[in-house]
Amino acid sequence: MADTSLEPSSFWTQANALLRKNLTFQRRNMRTNVRLILFPFILILLLVNIQTLVNRELDKPSNRCGCTCVENNANGGCTRRVCGIEYSTLDQGTTCPIPSPPEWPPLLQIPAPQYRAVRTDFLSDADFPDGSCKNTGSCPATVLLTGINQTLGLGVAGNMFSSSSTLNSSDILYSLANNGLGSASKTELTNFLEPAFFSNEPVYDLQPQCAANSGFTFPLQLGSTEVQQEARCVQGLHLWRNSSTDINDELFKGYRKGNSERQINEIIAAYDFLNSNGSSYNVSIWYNSTYKNDTGNAPLALMRIPRSVNLVSNAYLQFLLGPATKMLFEFVKEMPKPATQVKLDFSSLLGPLFFTWVIIQLFPVVLASLVYEKQQNLRIMMKMHGLGDGPYWMISYAYFLVVSSIYMFGFVLFGSIVGIKFFTLNDYSIQFVFYFIYINLQIAVAFLAAAFFSNVKTATVLGYILVFGTGLLGGFLFQFFLQDTSFPKAWIIVMELYPGFSLYRGLYELGDYSFTGNAIGTDGMRWKNLSDSTNGMREILIIMFVEWLLVVIVAYYVDQVVSSGKGYLFFLENFRRKPSSSFRRPSLRRQESKVFVQMEKPDVAQEREKVEQLLLEPSASEAILCDDLKKVYPGRDGNPEKFAVRGLSLALSQGECFGMLGPNGAGKTSFINMMIGLIKPSSGTAYVQGLDIKKHMDGIYANMGVCPQHDLLWETLTGREHLLFYGRLKNLKGAALIQAVEESLKGVNLFYGGVADKQAGKYSGGMKRRLSVAISLIGDPKVVYMDEPSTGLDPASRNSLWNVVKRAKQNRAIILTTHSMEEAEHLCDRLGIFVDGSLQCIGNPKELKGRYGGSYVFTMTTSANHEEQVENLVRRLSPNANRIYQISGTQKFELPKNEVRIAEVFQAVEKAKSKFTVQAWGLADTTLEDVFIKVARSAQAFNVLS
Ligand SMILES: *[C@@H]1O[C@H](CO)[C@@H](O)[C@H](O)[C@H]1NC(C)=O
Ligand SMILES: *[C@@H]1O[C@H](CO)[C@@H](O)[C@H](O)[C@H]1NC(C)=O
Ligand SMILES: *[C@@H]1O[C@H](CO)[C@@H](O)[C@H](O)[C@H]1NC(C)=O
Ligand SMILES: *[C@@H]1O[C@H](CO)[C@@H](O)[C@H](O)[C@H]1NC(C)=O
Ligand SMILES: *[C@@H]1O[C@H](CO)[C@@H](O)[C@H](O)[C@H]1NC(C)=O
Repeated sequence: MADTSLEPSSFWTQANALLRKNLTFQRRNMRTNVRLILFPFILILLLVNIQTLVNRELDKPSNRCGCTCVENNANGGCTRRVCGIEYSTLDQGTTCPIPSPPEWPPLLQIPAPQYRAVRTDFLSDADFPDGSCKNTGSCPATVLLTGINQTLGLGVAGNMFSSSSTLNSSDILYSLANNGLGSASKTELTNFLEPAFFSNEPVYDLQPQCAANSGFTFPLQLGSTEVQQEARCVQGLHLWRNSSTDINDELFKGYRKGNSERQINEIIAAYDFLNSNGSSYNVSIWYNSTYKNDTGNAPLALMRIPRSVNLVSNAYLQFLLGPATKMLFEFVKEMPKPATQVKLDFSSLLGPLFFTWVIIQLFPVVLASLVYEKQQNLRIMMKMHGLGDGPYWMISYAYFLVVSSIYMFGFVLFGSIVGIKFFTLNDYSIQFVFYFIYINLQIAVAFLAAAFFSNVKTATVLGYILVFGTGLLGGFLFQFFLQDTSFPKAWIIVMELYPGFSLYRGLYELGDYSFTGNAIGTDGMRWKNLSDSTNGMREILIIMFVEWLLVVIVAYYVDQVVSSGKGYLFFLENFRRKPSSSFRRPSLRRQESKVFVQMEKPDVAQEREKVEQLLLEPSASEAILCDDLKKVYPGRDGNPEKFAVRGLSLALSQGECFGMLGPNGAGKTSFINMMIGLIKPSSGTAYVQGLDIKKHMDGIYANMGVCPQHDLLWETLTGREHLLFYGRLKNLKGAALIQAVEESLKGVNLFYGGVADKQAGKYSGGMKRRLSVAISLIGDPKVVYMDEPSTGLDPASRNSLWNVVKRAKQNRAIILTTHSMEEAEHLCDRLGIFVDGSLQCIGNPKELKGRYGGSYVFTMTTSANHEEQVENLVRRLSPNANRIYQISGTQKFELPKNEVRIAEVFQAVEKAKSKFTVQAWGLADTTLEDVFIKVARSAQAFNVLS
């Protein structure tokens, strides 16, 4: 089993480990996931409900073709009903079958009396009628004229309005065609029923002069009934203007929206005869296209335009050929049509907005999940235990892709089942391609974005702002650009480079096709529609696909630079440098370091020499070899450079545990971080199992275990799952894996009482610590770094932890930092005291104590008046004794070892006891703690002096 760990785990083993861990992690997050998945379902149900309401509204009798009863039975019940446009109101008419549409007299658009042009202070021309006519509602309706030949223009205009001719009741429309009929009512989308005859607005008859109460009535067939329609006389006025500029000017000034009520000046139309003469007829016509029913959206007023064209053409003809010549415009008539149903597909209207939210909300989820592993340093932890970048990327990507795909599949499936037209009408294969490319792009963008965040909260908040912002901007801004045919296409494409907008565009196109398809009863988008000129689907598919490729590459690059700490041009390195073999050469900085050696303590210097020796003649038993490792943080904001590690040389063999002691801020963590690849050394290097930490970190990771100072754990995974995951990363499989996990759980006392299967988030601090240690040891790594492994542990757990480490020490090298001298003494074969970036001393605990202790501590407690006697006693024993503590009868002395013999001390104390009362006394050897304090003090004092 021990041997399997030598082999780094394969790509697929790592991928497998990560996948299993992710699945477990996701299972734990079930609540969040369910909420996530419920969101689209709720939106769809909302849509379905809205649709039902809309359908019910549309299905009301007032929206269906009108019917009437034509045959009653004796009880008054209806036996025969007929339906048709003739029994319908304006609203109902549009749904009836209309095999032969009715004919309507063509009408002019005539301004309502209160809006007609009159003389005002802002119009210079005196020829407008006086404003007093507004009070009686008898203002004339004006036509403005201009052209090169005024004689001709006025001549033509004189023929435009004719006095009403007598009506031939057997051919009403023909005789009406002689009159200039008009209305102030607004037009409709269709002209099956002419609104003028159904509204409260009167029908006007334009005449040159109106006698009082003049007007006439004519019979009009409205459906099955004939009504007498009144035509009220309106005086038609034609006014000549010098140029078209003058006309524009007057129309501009009279515009209704910009003026108060009395300053409005609306006209019927204006004609510019241009260069017309007896042989050529050339005319341009102003008309007001703003006249339309607000609920419509096309330039509906066009329905009233033909009559104004005919009016002037007929007048010109009469001007040339005499009044007998007539070119009459008899009627207007819609095209026949079958029965239709008013249909409004709400999903297609709201779809783009709703579905943008639904799809894009995956983005913050993916992003948060990526940033979480980064924020908690889990990514680096996994890396340190052998997870390569390749498997990490592949599995994470594939994983998010599968999750997104399932989400999208569920979404479309559910939508289709409940009959959302958006899904059912459009070709599923187009939808598939579109969604698939988009979610790929979205995941790639999340990977890229993750490189720039280090905090889950920020990432999530920004992600959701993006979700809602994109939907709203899409629905309320981008869509208007899409609908505006005059908006430059290039700008739309530029906007579509933002993935959110390409998503919106795609959904918008799908919605557009399904809306029309539903309204007119055809299919939605098909592949052949991709070549439609207005269909943007093809362009966004291309944009998204290309973008996806680019983003994946950029994201991988950025990830390598940002999180793996490689250089900006890392991919060129293989070309620039020949991969050097593991042949090791002492660095060229020997000269410089020799100078430094002079100041070093002999034990440290000896270690340095040993390292140099080993560099020249490598030995297989050396696990770790640090060669003059340095770390300098550059000075910032005017501060001087900070030397975190100043040239550390250290050789560690298999089976050795090296304890690193040192005050806070001494550089221990910087050293460990260099060794585990978190930071790069400024100079020097280290070899782990013969691999250079500067070049072959990936190889080192496979055989390394780390117990970081702060526990890096997934809150929702259990202890066992953590160990299974890291075990798999270390290439443990099957029964061996299960066994190793169980052993290590037992080892750190996390096996019994169901603790192993509790989520790590619920562990106490001590349990987390023990789990971290177990993780660092799983899979038999050859080199293990433990950064203060026992902080925060109760004595019992600490003892069991120590036993684990002791057992683990057998065939590996361990570097351990600690503040507990007891721990160092208990576990470590060798100790180094590290102060201010360099080793002050190195050796096994006994040696150190011998070297730096060199004295006993003698303590005695008596009553205060015997203090002097005690001191004399000590002086006699050892003239160079040093009192280090004295308070109310208790005194402590340091006695140099070479001056005293323990037996003498006992004799002296016995003698003293007979002379006065000794309450307590003791003699102690120097502790490691004393050594530590001494070394740290002297090193710091030295540094302060120098
Ligand atoms: C203007 O038109 C009238 C009528 O067609 C014509 O008799 C006259 O010569 C024209 N005047 C000019 C300047 O062309
Ligand atoms: C009325 O119209 C009919 C059909 O066009 C025609 O036969 C008849 O002569 C007209 N009557 C008059 C008085 O013009
Ligand atoms: C139009 O032209 C006539 C004759 O050239 C001139 O008297 C009149 O002032 C002009 N009207 C305007 C409004 O310019
Ligand atoms: C055109 O019609 C609109 C709507 O009826 C009206 O507000 C506007 O004043 C009209 N413009 C002119 C120049 O008549
Ligand atoms: C538009 O037409 C509808 C009926 O078709 C009518 O109810 C509505 O009042 C009209 N709107 C305007 C501004 O005339």
